[in-house]
Amino acid sequence: MELREITADDADGVAELVRITNAARLVDAPFEPEATPYSMEMGIRHGWDGEPGLHLLAVTADGPVGFVLVNTTEYDNPDLAWLGLLVDPAVRRHGHGSAILEAVLDVCREMDRLNVTAEGWYDDGVHAFATAHGFRRVMVSARRRQDLAALPDGLAEELYAEALPHAGDYELMRIHGRTPDDLIERLATATAAINDAPLDDLDVEDDEFPPERIRAYEEAQLARGPGFYRIVALHRDSGEVAGHTVVAVDPEQPTHGEQHDTSVVTAHRGHRLGQLLKADMVRWLREVEPQLGHVDTWNAASNGHMIGVNERLGYRLLAQGSLYQRRLED
Ligand SMILES: CC(C)(COP(=O)(O)OP(=O)(O)OC[C@H]1O[C@@H](n2cnc3c(N)ncnc32)[C@H](O)[C@@H]1OP(=O)(O)O)[C@@H](O)C(=O)NCCC(=O)NCCS
Repeated sequence: MELREITADDADGVAELVRITNAARLVDAPFEPEATPYSMEMGIRHGWDGEPGLHLLAVTADGPVGFVLVNTTEYDNPDLAWLGLLVDPAVRRHGHGSAILEAVLDVCREMDRLNVTAEGWYDDGVHAFATAHGFRRVMVSARRRQDLAALPDGLAEELYAEALPHAGDYELMRIHGRTPDDLIERLATATAAINDAPLDDLDVEDDEFPPERIRAYEEAQLARGPGFYRIVALHRDSGEVAGHTVVAVDPEQPTHGEQHDTSVVTAHRGHRLGQLLKADMVRWLREVEPQLGHVDTWNAASNGHMIGVNERLGYRLLAQGSLYQRRLED
């Protein structure tokens, strides 16, 4: 079995990654949006924030059998690698997953990335596989969906109005696309608040967010399409960014939206800013993206506070995920 790196210009390789991703999606998580050649190409070119990682197609003598993504960052956590591993459902339980994992762990060793995490859906089979390979479950995550058509009339307005009197020291600013230059440093500082989200037993250092990383993230997202929406809460007295929330709308499947970060800086908590920001996002998206059907989000299952806000805003559980970790020997 060979791990073959697929580049964005390799249309046949991209098509194989799309085929395997969609075959797995149908079996593991049919509620997820479809992968397309365009979305895959954008992932390979830009990743989440300009560090796209390695997209490796697993090929045997009988053809491609799986796909593994290796994500690393130069901004922080120099020993860390995030893996996403998929085996084509048609050929599972033939040892391919094990062969791919062992081969990609060698790739991690060569990169000197000895702190390895792997994500999957919460599932007994996945758990058996991961523990057989020396991984430990360190976090349970939750995928939720906000079905916009099913929201009771006036709910977003009601939750917005309820939060507003608690947030008198703040004003909201809606930003479609790139953040203005004069806000980027303050936004970078506030973005680091995401490090306060619960990690359960996940052993990682804090993420670093210099302004250039915020820009790289915006560029990577806007390269896909224009549906990138951020609302920031500004503290009136200091001008600090107290919190923010981001939603991206899929350019090819515009009924699908994806919630990115929502965070409120510690010093500004207790003013219902989380609720205010997220309720205002619903109000805004209804105006500018009227075709949008739902917004999906990931949280640590233990993040009771964020999940509480989300549930009030109509988010309902779709499925749970598991995060595994293994430290490779030197
Ligand atoms: C998890 C996954 C990668 C396993 O791929 P695979 O090619 O079927 O794995 P292998 O054939 O190498 O399995 C090795 C061992 O893991 C365990 N295992 C794997 N899948 C299992 C399942 N569904 N139920 C129970 N045990 C399972 C078994 O012990 C198996 O050995 P056996 O078949 O001799 O009993 C694959 O099911 C998949 O792509 N799942 C969706 C994506 C995912 O969750 N990835 C994250 C992995 S951490």
